[in-house]
Amino acid sequence: MIALGVNIDHIATLRQARYRENPAAFNAEPDPVAAALAAERAGAIGITAHLRADRRHIQDADIHRLRAEITTKLNFEMGNTPDIVAVALAVRPEDACLVPEHRAEVTTEGGLDCLAHAAALRETIAALQGIGTRVSLFIDPDPAQVEAAAALRAEFIELHTGAFANAQGSAQQAELARLAAAAAQAHTLGLRVNAGHGINYRNVALIRTLPHLEELNIGHSIVARATVVGMEQATREMLAAMNGA
Ligand code: PXP
Repeated sequence: MIALGVNIDHIATLRQARYRENPAAFNAEPDPVAAALAAERAGAIGITAHLRADRRHIQDADIHRLRAEITTKLNFEMGNTPDIVAVALAVRPEDACLVPEHRAEVTTEGGLDCLAHAAALRETIAALQGIGTRVSLFIDPDPAQVEAAAALRAEFIELHTGAFANAQGSAQQAELARLAAAAAQAHTLGLRVNAGHGINYRNVALIRTLPHLEELNIGHSIVARATVVGMEQATREMLAAMNGA
């Protein structure tokens, strides 16, 4: 069975849209921790959250509350910068996924370059593994990157499925083949294989065929669907509250 890690960043995005000035206000909503607990009740094996340098969605306080309240595992997505590494070392997540991070991007674009940044990554991987955190490297399905990730002795790679998710037809099949080859190579080199980015209720039917796949980390599509499938109940509850039912 493939495990699901639910990424709750975009619950925080919705909160920040209204409560950017005071995300800890008594009336700030929705609460990413409440969403995480709901995902756990539904069978998620872990909760993923990305503390970005610009704090555009998840806040430091969210990470500390997640750490205290979730009962599965915390997968801390992180750029490799000193202040974020310091947070990770304090929070001691079960898993950390190192991602590239550029301030101007809407979401994580492209995978880590494990060759160009090998020295800096090696230092952070050692620090995280030293506190018992398992490390995953978010990479494109590129043979050179898989090899570099294995040389860095990370426990996992997370294959970046964004190019697959944004392709259709034969181009999508070609991306799927690249992902499958990277997963097989990683397994041969002793790496465990996760995947994520842009996975939705339709394309998951193809992604689930990847060999050696242990865990998918999915965020946007689940949050998007929750807003729609939850609308009817939310409206009904407000009408009842308005009219004292
Ligand atoms: N995995 C990683 C490493 C990511 O950076 C993201 C996006 O934050 C995801 C998974 C989840 O992607 P999505 O929100 O498109 O499901």
